Amino acid sequence: MPVDIVILAAGQGTRMKSELPKVLQPLAGRPLLEHVLERSADLGAEAVHVVYGYGGHQVPQALADWPVNWILQEQQLGTGHAVTQALPGIADDSLVLVLYGDVPLISEATLTELLGKADSGSLALLSVMLADPTGYGRIIRNDQGQVRKIVEQKEANETELTVCEVNTGILACPARHLRNWLEKLGNDNSQGEYYLTDVIAMAVADRFPVDVLIAAGEIEVMGVNDKRQLAELESANRAEKAADLMRDGVTLLDPARVDVRGKLSCGRDVVIDINAIFEGDVELGDGVSIGPNVVIRNSKLAAGCTVHANTVIEDAEIGESCELGPFARVRPGTVLEASAKLGNFVEVKKSRVGKGSKINHFSYIGDTEIGERVNVGAGTITCNYDGANKFKTVIEDDVFIGSGVELVAPLTLEKGATIGAGSTICKSAPANELTLARSRQTTVKGWKSPRKKARE
Ligand code: UD1
Ligand code: CA
Repeated sequence: MPVDIVILAAGQGTRMKSELPKVLQPLAGRPLLEHVLERSADLGAEAVHVVYGYGGHQVPQALADWPVNWILQEQQLGTGHAVTQALPGIADDSLVLVLYGDVPLISEATLTELLGKADSGSLALLSVMLADPTGYGRIIRNDQGQVRKIVEQKEANETELTVCEVNTGILACPARHLRNWLEKLGNDNSQGEYYLTDVIAMAVADRFPVDVLIAAGEIEVMGVNDKRQLAELESANRAEKAADLMRDGVTLLDPARVDVRGKLSCGRDVVIDINAIFEGDVELGDGVSIGPNVVIRNSKLAAGCTVHANTVIEDAEIGESCELGPFARVRPGTVLEASAKLGNFVEVKKSRVGKGSKINHFSYIGDTEIGERVNVGAGTITCNYDGANKFKTVIEDDVFIGSGVELVAPLTLEKGATIGAGSTICKSAPANELTLARSRQTTVKGWKSPRKKARE
């Protein structure tokens, strides 16, 4: 059967004590809801319907790139009311899968199994066993172990309160049946809310099969209500990503101190030191070594690269056997060809650095094409910006630039040119010659330094 996913995301999340709607709170650098959308996309659903409310258009705006049917629930009258808002857009012969926007780590395997149960004609619930079930809806079974109903914490009697099997809120059900039951739903309970969970007793009354899948672990069904739970999921997610990396053969000096906030793919014999952060899509080739406190975002590093401590790399492509840092900053649009080297306090932006070229100390290189085997001396700066426009610098193969040079773009340093230290170069320099631009050194003979007058 085709599947329609309904994600409940209208709640405020009072306990977050934040202006940001709960489902936009970040986990691994991305909104909670985005994690659920990503999971939904993996399931190949017909459509994904997100019921939003608190925070108004902030939620759809923040996730505008996702193909979602956004449904505004103006008043949060309960989970049953929320699902009802999405039903008009769902065909009778579809399966409805209800997810929560604040349960971000639900696994694809669990959802596939749950959908399988619903597909064979049942109302399929996902439950979990909790040592402390306080606050959750309890799964009430008869003596034969068949589910009879779900009772919310506030409605439960003493015996029901001792039940440790709780409702995760996630369920799957043929749309036709769900629609029938939801139409009959009332709000005559202690909270005056339309409880989605009341459909279970209705299904039982109709002799419609109710099937329960008990989740293997707590983490994947854990919802986020406050910052403590958010941090708990953050570290669970971190541990899971670290375990994936180690299973793929990556050496992590401390698996508790590596953050993968996106997709990281690694070749063989990759070593990652502590406090490394990977964001977006990052690829590390064979034998890459990442030092401590390194941040890499949307970049590719080819085999054999070494990244030393405290280096930041963003939207860049790094060729084989390059060496970066410590304290290098590689900004978007940078390409380093094989065996290039960026040393400490070197910033490179939107530039190409050719094979074997070196920029070893304290430099800013922007909008520049650097050829092969170039040596850029300490403190070299490309003056690429006049306050309004950006200009290009071209440095051809085998150029040698002395220390403390300013290159005022646009200009070209032709093949094999040497630039004397301390020069401010404003015009192109010819091939294979020494060019310098600095004032001559003079010494004033017999000069006396001023002295303070003695006080009277
Ligand atoms: C719900 C379940 C409970 C389950 C628990 C698991 C009901 C009646 N109870 O309780 O059995 O153990 O989740 O966490 O379903 N939401 C809306 N619109 C609304 C109300 C809620 O979008 O009108 C969203 C919330 O943003 C949240 C989710 O639905 O993501 C659950 O709502 P919440 O109020 O937290 O339900 P609980 O009382 O915790
Ligand atoms: Ca909740």
